[in-house]
Amino acid sequence: MKQPKVVVVGSVNLDLAASVARLPAPGETLTDAVLGRFPGGKGANQALAAKRLGADVSLVACVGDDAYAEEALALLKEGDVNLSRCKVSPTAATGVALICVAPDGENQIVVAPGANRELTPADVSLPAADALIGQLEVPVDALTTAADAFDGLFCVNLAPAADVPDRLIARADYIVVNETEAAFYGDVLTSGSATVVTTLGARGAMAHRQGEEIARAAAPIVDAIDATGAGDTFTAALTVAVVRDMALED
Ligand code: RIB
Repeated sequence: MKQPKVVVVGSVNLDLAASVARLPAPGETLTDAVLGRFPGGKGANQALAAKRLGADVSLVACVGDDAYAEEALALLKEGDVNLSRCKVSPTAATGVALICVAPDGENQIVVAPGANRELTPADVSLPAADALIGQLEVPVDALTTAADAFDGLFCVNLAPAADVPDRLIARADYIVVNETEAAFYGDVLTSGSATVVTTLGARGAMAHRQGEEIARAAAPIVDAIDATGAGDTFTAALTVAVVRDMALED
């Protein structure tokens, strides 16, 4: 099977995840949570997923000069993701995500982006690759610079939802959104020629091109434990599968 070369431009966070009996309401304090610390960030999650699917992966990112960076990058280092383009900010702290996870796997996430915000267009140097993956946890001008400079397949996960330049949408070959993000962007998603893939949680995913549905897939039936990173893993899997010429349904 072909080994795709993938470059990810994106975020690295340390995820501080509290497992709670239910998600808190505004203004409410919940106790008895169990705390876990995990490497995270949409970019890092996408990079690790692509690597575990057999791709050769480089990550373009920015972390702080602190102990959180070591923890956040540990799985990528262990997994042999190329981190030579991962910058270290001398001033900003490594990004942190504060996560609450309920027993049914639903979550709430607040991100303090820290060093992720320091990734500039000048930091973007891309290796030769089959595919570029991006998302919106790093400055959009850095991602747009990468997309402009790259001539292979470009898959962008438009998460978290934010305003993006038209040319990013126009350059995209694949756009991945969840249903909330799809509603946020509306018709903008179909302004280019990208295949727009919408994830539907337990209902699977569907793909549209120029507004027409072209594929739909059911999700495997699982006991949901934690949905954190599901969209990131999906984005990486879709990109690797497209490079390998698999059918969209697969
Ligand atoms: O998509 C999940 C990721 O979003 C988490 O790992 C967290 O770091 C946030 O960035």
